[in-house]
Amino acid sequence: MDLFRTKSVEAVRADTGEGTEAPDGAGHLRKRLSARHLVGIGIGIVIGTGIFTLTGVTAKQNAGPAVVVSFAVAGLVALLAALCYAELASAVPTAGSAYTYAYATAGEVVAWIIGWDLFLEFALGAAVVARGWSGYVGNLLDLPPSLFGETSTVNVGAAAVVVALTLVAVLGIRESARVTGVLVVVKVAVCVFVIVAGAWFVRGANLTPFVPPGEPAEGGSGLTRPLIEVVAGLEPVAFGVGGVLTAAAVVFFAYTGFEAVANLSEETRRPARDVPMGLLGTLGLATALYVGVAFVVVGMVEYRDIDEGAPIADAFDQVGLGWASSLVSIAAVAGLTSVILVDLITIGRIGFAMGRDGLLPQSVARVSPRTGTPVRDTLLFAGLVLVLATFVPLGTLADLVSIGTLFAFLLVSVAVVALRRTRPELERPFRVPLSPVLPLLSALACLYLMLNLSIETWLRFLAWLALGLLVYAGYGYRNSRVRAAARTGARPR
Ligand code: ALA
Repeated sequence: MDLFRTKSVEAVRADTGEGTEAPDGAGHLRKRLSARHLVGIGIGIVIGTGIFTLTGVTAKQNAGPAVVVSFAVAGLVALLAALCYAELASAVPTAGSAYTYAYATAGEVVAWIIGWDLFLEFALGAAVVARGWSGYVGNLLDLPPSLFGETSTVNVGAAAVVVALTLVAVLGIRESARVTGVLVVVKVAVCVFVIVAGAWFVRGANLTPFVPPGEPAEGGSGLTRPLIEVVAGLEPVAFGVGGVLTAAAVVFFAYTGFEAVANLSEETRRPARDVPMGLLGTLGLATALYVGVAFVVVGMVEYRDIDEGAPIADAFDQVGLGWASSLVSIAAVAGLTSVILVDLITIGRIGFAMGRDGLLPQSVARVSPRTGTPVRDTLLFAGLVLVLATFVPLGTLADLVSIGTLFAFLLVSVAVVALRRTRPELERPFRVPLSPVLPLLSALACLYLMLNLSIETWLRFLAWLALGLLVYAGYGYRNSRVRAAARTGARPR
């Protein structure tokens, strides 16, 4: 049963250098972040393409003006997961986040699966967004699609943005936080502008009926159908309450990424206070901005006339404020750029935590004495992202990022309940209220949203996990430090 051997919370803490007196913890990640940095980084990865594209598609196809409610519902589900992350990250601040929580509760093989799943979320996320960035900037500046478009053989734009942001990521965490901060100020300012300027053009008539009556929808066919329709024998519906919930599952993508804040808890000066603030602050701000932006968009334009590709910019065009759409484009580029940067930072931390445990080569999991960050890991994973983003058309794989994220949220929610049972005495600076009800509700909500993804996405996801298990059998299983320590009876150091 040593597949399910757990790593003790004490061993995790010792690894992160908690309680050590070494100046800036030689060999450990340097602790340089505050709550302000964490909210900046959180918003940096959360506000990306989602709000700039999904508002239109979902209002038009699923929810009508009630897409505002869909954003609120998705925000609430994300908030439940964020509460769970806040409890675990404040009690056990570690760069591995969900991977390490799984190691401490469910055991090594589950931890590996989650770690492998997080690579999918952040590495694939970075590559997908880098290609999106290239297409968007290429369009904006009229650059040749053969080098910037989705059909290019060598996507120069995607490669350039990954290389540039990797350089920022290896400079150091404070430096990266500063660059992210600038990009975040731009996109938050534009969202506030959209809400304030758009509010003048909101017409009551566009908001009625707020929830258009439900009607049968054209379903996808075969593998593109949501798994839940097949499992529960449901007919596809558009609008009505069902449509609002379907839209919530789709716009959930706009909230993904906030959990990167938990991966930075090991580099936070006062994690007990600042990580919960970082997680909840990020989600509070993102939800307020999303609900506000969605409200003005459906208030400015009749939902049937909303543009699916660029809903916000087009809404301003339609009310005669064409210049405002340039501002929206600037915010979209800033948003895409910061998402890639935070993805690259996060993937380095997860690889580092897994290397530290011996599940990936330990030689790569070294902290650079110069920057106090895992430079080798960051370069290694950024190299993989670079190859993917430059050569592989990934447009159709965005849903894999969502399923990977939801799977991690599900597990973290369950881990809160498990750890409360196995380690009731553990000091928890932040506690999820009403546990186990809220964590279990969070787990169910994540499962529900996962079931709303297509069969095709589920099959790809399962194939990815199966590949991960092969890699584990070939390397991690043999090289695990926890298993080696158990064999010799020593503490895993
Ligand atoms: N949540 C991020 C976005 O909306 C990934 O682009």
